[in-house]
Amino acid sequence: MVNIVGISGSLRKDSSNTAVLKAISKVAGKGVEMNIYEDLGTIPHFDPTIAVEDSPDAVKNLRTLLKEANAVIICTPEYAFGVPGVLKNALDWLVSSGEMNEKPVGIISASPLHRGGNHAHASLVLTLTALGTKMSEHAKLMIGNVYNKMNDKKEVVDEETVKELRSLVHSLTDGLV
Ligand code: FNR
Repeated sequence: MVNIVGISGSLRKDSSNTAVLKAISKVAGKGVEMNIYEDLGTIPHFDPTIAVEDSPDAVKNLRTLLKEANAVIICTPEYAFGVPGVLKNALDWLVSSGEMNEKPVGIISASPLHRGGNHAHASLVLTLTALGTKMSEHAKLMIGNVYNKMNDKKEVVDEETVKELRSLVHSLTDGLV
């Protein structure tokens, strides 16, 4: 069984980015289990003076989840042309502990604007490069006009987008299944 951890960069209950992760878990296929991380908002501010072993429990829990994951998919909104602070904050905690090193990652940004959160996407790629993750061009996606691609129940219904998500998760898990 391939175990993927999905991280949404949005804390909103009705988040379109979380909805995209849910859509991926539906199309991931047999042999893939997707676990959507829901505690991003509980991660304290990063403090580089705290040793890895003395980190807050919320950080330790996230590290354990990621360590055990075969792959990670991050789906994020863009705020003020950047990555949401809560997401960048969580990633900063992982620099010195190394769980993301060599980890295959899928990188998605989704936005109601047509650019699909391109600035946040580029910034996230840089951060994940610093973390030493394994990134493939086939596992990167920007989703523009995301509200138009979902129904009232916040399900991704746009066929092209569903196809892109399926292809992304398959490319990420190829060789892992
Ligand atoms: C936004 N939004 C936004 N969108 C974008 O494409 N580029 C941007 O720079 C910003 N900036 C921004 C700042 C602030 C403070 C807010 C509240 C929103 C819009 C954002 O993409 C939209 O609210 C999404 O719906 C957020 O994602 P979730 O919560 O639906 O996943």
